[in-house]
Amino acid sequence: MGATGPMVLSATVRPCCRLLHLFPKCPCSPAFSPSVFPKCPHHCLADLRALASCRHRRFSPFRAAVAPAPSPDAAPSLRRLSTSVDPVSSDKAFERIYIQGGLAAVKPLVIERKQEGEVKEPAPVAPVAAPTEAAPVREESELEKEAWRLLKRAVVNYCGNPVGTVAADDPGAQPLNYDQVFIRDFVPSALAFLLKGESEIVKNFLLHTLQLQSWEKTVDCYSPGQGLMPASFKVRTMPMDGSNEAYEEVLDPDFGESAIGRVAPVDSGLWWIILLRAYGKITGDYALQERVDVQTGIRLILNLCLSDGFDMFPSLLVTDGSCMIDRRMGIHGHPLEIQALFYSALRCSREMITVNDGSKNLLRAINNRLSALSFHIREYYWVDMNKINEIYRYKTEEYSQDATNKFNIYPEQIPSWLVNWIPEKGGYLIGNVQPAHMDFRFFSLGNLWAIVSSLSTPRQAEGILNLIEDKWDDLLGNMPLKICYPALEFEEWRIITGSDPKNTPWSYHNGGSWPTLLWQFTLACIKMGRPELARKAVAVAEKRLSNDKWPEYYDTRTGRFIGKQARLYQTWTVSGYLTSKMLLENPEMASILTCEEDLELLEGCACSLTKSARTKCSRFAAKSQVLL
Ligand code: GLC
Repeated sequence: MGATGPMVLSATVRPCCRLLHLFPKCPCSPAFSPSVFPKCPHHCLADLRALASCRHRRFSPFRAAVAPAPSPDAAPSLRRLSTSVDPVSSDKAFERIYIQGGLAAVKPLVIERKQEGEVKEPAPVAPVAAPTEAAPVREESELEKEAWRLLKRAVVNYCGNPVGTVAADDPGAQPLNYDQVFIRDFVPSALAFLLKGESEIVKNFLLHTLQLQSWEKTVDCYSPGQGLMPASFKVRTMPMDGSNEAYEEVLDPDFGESAIGRVAPVDSGLWWIILLRAYGKITGDYALQERVDVQTGIRLILNLCLSDGFDMFPSLLVTDGSCMIDRRMGIHGHPLEIQALFYSALRCSREMITVNDGSKNLLRAINNRLSALSFHIREYYWVDMNKINEIYRYKTEEYSQDATNKFNIYPEQIPSWLVNWIPEKGGYLIGNVQPAHMDFRFFSLGNLWAIVSSLSTPRQAEGILNLIEDKWDDLLGNMPLKICYPALEFEEWRIITGSDPKNTPWSYHNGGSWPTLLWQFTLACIKMGRPELARKAVAVAEKRLSNDKWPEYYDTRTGRFIGKQARLYQTWTVSGYLTSKMLLENPEMASILTCEEDLELLEGCACSLTKSARTKCSRFAAKSQVLL
């Protein structure tokens, strides 16, 4: 991570001035805005004195914050100004998804029990009561009090209202872009605030990031899809044009055009959808998700994810570093983390999309994808003792629809560490599956989120927790939780990371331990009825976090040392801890984030190949039929 410079660089270095009109415009003014940063609607004016105080103002969770709710019309008007192809009226795209390959003749899975063409209404969802109303009050520990102080200190205000939290507030380190609000990092902060009964900051965050989504974004004259959500944004204070006295605040998003490696933040939009649903479930404020601009935002994200490509798999094809691991780590292709978040975001969207004629095709596309994706991951990503043994004896070069070794995996790929590591009981979802390639590394976030979203079967979910328990020293050790296991070493490290000095073996993304993952572990444990496992992990973290100044990550095989280049006072370390504590205290709150098994998604398949004489549906030809 890290920024190489403000957004203006990408515009000013353009060799061709004819292209200047592509520079982000202020949609409120018909003329080109010469200002360095994109303005309206993400700017607010203030005089010097007001700003001086506003810059230092800290957010109090007990203050009733009044956010400038953007007008519901604001986003659509922004979108009208976009130069990209219009995916807003994307029904045709979804129509295409649904009818391709003869699917038109097939009844969509989930609506089978209803009349043909009728889309199932999402079940009405009762809000989950905020814990402040229901839970008995417990005195916070000193550690929790410290964590709350740090979390409040990390709050970023925009025009006097809280809109997010900085990634880290480490006075001893260069900020790079750690002084920005990262979408993925804000999720545990948002949850901590929501669980505390403080929802305004989350609402502001959801609405402001929604509007950032509509910015034209370019890297060297190429514009990525309209629905892309930024990785992060920063509130900048700028002198107003032609005035030395007046200042304005502007929101400056980074869609990857400044980030190191120019990585595309695929996970941002998926997290945004997941958080939107959690916000609705806990506050009961469903009006937010019903707003036209919010519905459009969901559609734009889904449009990017569901549009046709060259891929043969229902899993999402992405570049390396497109998620929490935002550097080259050999996770390009179909990494588990993205698939689990994708599945979860589809499940959440299905609950939130307003059902009408205009959304029918989208809902069908979602159901079809959910069904195909869950089958694909359950069947092809799952490994346990039996499966490894099966792969060990694979025949290769099989050409047929009935191939057992569908992806032509050479058994020599089974890494030597796995032979001894795979326990008798339990298993896990591997990191990536592609032609002739299985990445056998264990990635924590993907596995945990597969449990949380019910992407894995209930039996697989139990198996994952069993494995984590069995491999406690490897995966939790002195600090929960390893981002992945094991580390890439020697030649593998050189070739796969490109000799990345930050991702040396057992450091950072390459087998480092990230305390923020504690909240996701807690969530998965609660969902599986095993909170005691999470309590044990929290107790391990509690011993060190405050003394070590809440670092971003830990190094070494068992997580003994504070990470070589770890920031201190990393916000999602702090908020991940608080969220874990509050979830353990109010386990029923986990339901704002979890999804239950949907048996209807498993009942059939969306293709018509079963009836065809020429070819069989591979789903029915699948070897293990791991469904429940
Ligand atoms: C690092 C992490 C990324 C995180 C960012 C801000 O780049 O890899 O996941 O969002 O820091 O904390």
